[in-house]
Amino acid sequence: MKFFVDTADVAEIKDLAASGLLDGVTTNPSLIMKAGRPMFDVIKEICAIVPGPVSAETVATEHKKMLEEGRKLAKLAKNVAVKVPLTPDGLKTCKALSSEGIMVNVTLCFSAAQALLAAKAGASFISPFVGRLDDIGQDGFTVVEQLVRILRNYDYPAQVLVASVRSPMHLLRAAEIGAHVATLPFNVIKQTLAHPLTDIGLERFLADWHKTKQKI
Ligand code: E4P
Repeated sequence: MKFFVDTADVAEIKDLAASGLLDGVTTNPSLIMKAGRPMFDVIKEICAIVPGPVSAETVATEHKKMLEEGRKLAKLAKNVAVKVPLTPDGLKTCKALSSEGIMVNVTLCFSAAQALLAAKAGASFISPFVGRLDDIGQDGFTVVEQLVRILRNYDYPAQVLVASVRSPMHLLRAAEIGAHVATLPFNVIKQTLAHPLTDIGLERFLADWHKTKQKI
């Protein structure tokens, strides 16, 4: 399973890259706003740190302009995956960009039927938003399960990128189902790593070690 981090904060990305946990990065306009820096600078910097796909999202809603933006973003680095929304214009743009050999992440996916259209349009990644579906009382992972099955049925090359992840349990569900990728906020990666028994165990081992007065 691939781990992406869902952030535009370069310090967080550097921290995770050092642990070898990072296969890619996803950003969106809200994360760029949070980073408070020019988008092109941030994307270029991230692409130089992480060799895997780095999603950079278009903001135009009309196909021609979206395609222009997508081409601009793709020129920033070889590992940019252009993010387009799952709309009719987004799918046209997906088709055009993927025909040019550009990776496309189709985002804002909320149903498996929508996702099937994205797969047909040549998406490299399809992002079902599990947390936002949970927020409205629907099971986001039903969509993920259906989507993984559909892509397998027809050998579509698109990868399921589980997005809007809110907890380590979401990551676990995604992995059990066999989703290709999960994009995790920095705090969810930290929560996943933490276990009180690991901390207590380490504390006890170190206390005993100090009693031996030895050094390694
Ligand atoms: C990732 O590609 C999405 O933009 C992101 O996971 C959305 O997460 P949110 O629902 O927590 O904003």
